[in-house]
Amino acid sequence: MKIELDNKKIIFNNKYNKTEIHPIWLRERVRDEKYLDKNNDQRLFDPSLLNDINIENAQIDNNFLKLTFNDGVTSKFEISKLTSEFLDSENLSNTVKQKFWDSSLKNNPTYKFNKNFSESREMFNLLKSFYEYGFVILKNVPTKNNYIVDFANSIGSIRHTNFGEFFNVRSVPSPNDLAYTSLALPPHTDNPYRKPVPCIQLLHCLENEVSGGLSTLVDGFKVATHLKKNNPEYFEILTKIKVKFKFSDKDVVLENKGELIELDEKNNFKQIRFNTRLDYVPPLEKDQLDVYYKARKKISDLYNSERFRIKFKLTPGDIIMMDNHRLLHGRTVYDANEGKRFLQGCYIDHDSSEGKLRHLKRKFDL
Ligand code: OGA
Ligand code: ZN
Repeated sequence: MKIELDNKKIIFNNKYNKTEIHPIWLRERVRDEKYLDKNNDQRLFDPSLLNDINIENAQIDNNFLKLTFNDGVTSKFEISKLTSEFLDSENLSNTVKQKFWDSSLKNNPTYKFNKNFSESREMFNLLKSFYEYGFVILKNVPTKNNYIVDFANSIGSIRHTNFGEFFNVRSVPSPNDLAYTSLALPPHTDNPYRKPVPCIQLLHCLENEVSGGLSTLVDGFKVATHLKKNNPEYFEILTKIKVKFKFSDKDVVLENKGELIELDEKNNFKQIRFNTRLDYVPPLEKDQLDVYYKARKKISDLYNSERFRIKFKLTPGDIIMMDNHRLLHGRTVYDANEGKRFLQGCYIDHDSSEGKLRHLKRKFDL
């Protein structure tokens, strides 16, 4: 693909077709000092006020396009920057390809923490793996109380919830959530009742003396792919019906609605939701609910089957970072009399992880 001139027209030629680039589209990308604050890359002019912009003069000089506009502004554009915008190559989904997995996944994506981790190449690789697999494990993190907050803030900013800035996951008397018991937790996504649903969960293992309490993970997008192929009718209904999820305790009643498998405008997977402790399907026609209940049973069987679920033990110093819009997580039962099991958790948004990944990509010029 290349940029060509046709008299004063600027043409993007990608071999299959030619597109004329709009003069205002170019004019609003003028990056010279007078027009852009170098400290923050923000415009010092309002392009929505531009009108009747034409190109008076155009030249291609090696890797640069030199333009003079009819309002007197002259600028040099890096051609590679213009083409990458045309190809949307800055888009994360075009740089990191998701790899859907099942229980045949050989090695969990695992990294080792060090005190300079935050701004390192390893952090870049960790975030890349996170987008590929939907989770990563970080080992050797200091087992200090609240350290999860420091780690989360080294990526982005914490999403506070009614459980606080972070939460303690351990067995307590009179818990306001089953996570705070020693019961098994079947694969679920966290907090589908929140608006918006937290994007990423971080869990930091501080103590784990019990023989049970293994962590489990399932790639929801892999299961959804399987369902789409083998039970298209079930897939269809799970992508259509919006289910209500509800949480209540003495202080708050939280509700949100969404599909068990949500698709985006291009029919790609956007988000899965699954939490059978908290879901309330609307009172639809009996025939429709017949299909829905069969579909939910099917997807539940798949999520719980050995074919899709991986199981491993967290050891003190491990942080697991998982995409709550793609993966399901859970744990096996444990016996609290055997010893302590103590995790601290918090949520961050995709905004944080994507922002950090783009920053490190820029920093290391990758
Ligand atoms: C949770 C949870 C898993 C565990 O707190 O949301 O699912 O391993 N915990 O205790
Ligand atoms: Zn959970």
